[in-house]
Amino acid sequence: MRVFNFAPGPAALPLEVLEQARDEMTDWRGSGMSVMEISHRSKAFMAVAAEAEADLRELLAIPGDYKVLFLQGGATGQFSAIPMNLTHADSSVDYINTGSWSKKALGEARHYCKVNVAADAAASNYTTVPPRSAWKLTQGAAYLHYTPNETIGGVEFPFVPQVDAPLVADMSSTILSRPIDVSRFGVIYAGAQKNIGPSGLCVVIVREDLLGRARHGTPSVWDFKAVADEGSMLNTPPTFAWYFAGLVFKWLKKQGGLSAMEERNRVKAELLYATIDSSGFYRNPVDPACRSWMNVPFVLAAPALDRSFLAEANQAGLVNLAGHRSVGGMRASLYNATSIEAVRALTEFMREFVRRHG
Ligand SMILES: Cc1ncc(COP(=O)(O)O)c(C=O)c1O
Repeated sequence: MRVFNFAPGPAALPLEVLEQARDEMTDWRGSGMSVMEISHRSKAFMAVAAEAEADLRELLAIPGDYKVLFLQGGATGQFSAIPMNLTHADSSVDYINTGSWSKKALGEARHYCKVNVAADAAASNYTTVPPRSAWKLTQGAAYLHYTPNETIGGVEFPFVPQVDAPLVADMSSTILSRPIDVSRFGVIYAGAQKNIGPSGLCVVIVREDLLGRARHGTPSVWDFKAVADEGSMLNTPPTFAWYFAGLVFKWLKKQGGLSAMEERNRVKAELLYATIDSSGFYRNPVDPACRSWMNVPFVLAAPALDRSFLAEANQAGLVNLAGHRSVGGMRASLYNATSIEAVRALTEFMREFVRRHG
């Protein structure tokens, strides 16, 4: 019996893909082995790896002058890898602080170079994106980093920033939720465990002119050029996660690609926000122009009912709705694998809960 899973990450995966992985688990394509038990350098696995990359390139329409890297260390590893690859000790970099993940990213960058917080949403308690016109950018910055979707706060940029410096984006919780113009970015990175596949994999998409600048002493597993030159097989990659991500990419193509996902994700988010806004009981604190499609935090009019809400939701098969431990309340994450049916079930439950407790 599958539940409706609103986890923020590791998150729900498409059932069809889980079933395929299950069916192939002990005898992968007639090999008599699982895909986890073969060499990453075998012809068979190299084909899996190449196909996954080709499908991701097709889904995101990644231009030819970008490399796609399949790394470990999560998005958190990239918080350091980005400055190691793109700065010198005397470089300045710009960060936009829109919440918990931006803050972690810029905190790591401070170990490597001069960090200018070009805009900070603190005054709004991180419920909005500071307007582009208010940003205080550094002349000659090595890059500008931002977090298009803050997974905890549920704040999403309604625009792609236009700046002179290379644009670096932590897309962990928004990648593949809709089409994007990759050519606007210098580096895009994303931990896999939301919209890509299982945890253990981090995808980095980097423009080729940004390769080959890593600082002396950068570990080779973090050096974008060294990894790119070896086709992300400089050391043993997370083969199962890579294989599984490849299955998710095929599933996305079968769904109609990212335009179809965009439409579905829009419908899901609109349904949940409409339920919250019309309830007089639930509240989402985020500026409506910056509300995330992927992570929807909300609070109840009576916080004393939080525990009942979660317990009753669980009983109804609606799980992982607790807000992040740093903020409390509730949060529903609506990644690609979460169906419209799941969101309908959640909104019906929410209305019913108000009828009983409101
Ligand atoms: C936006 C964002 N950035 C970074 C991270 C950290 O990712 P990881 O755990 O893969 O290091 C997360 C995790 O939830 C996230 O949502």
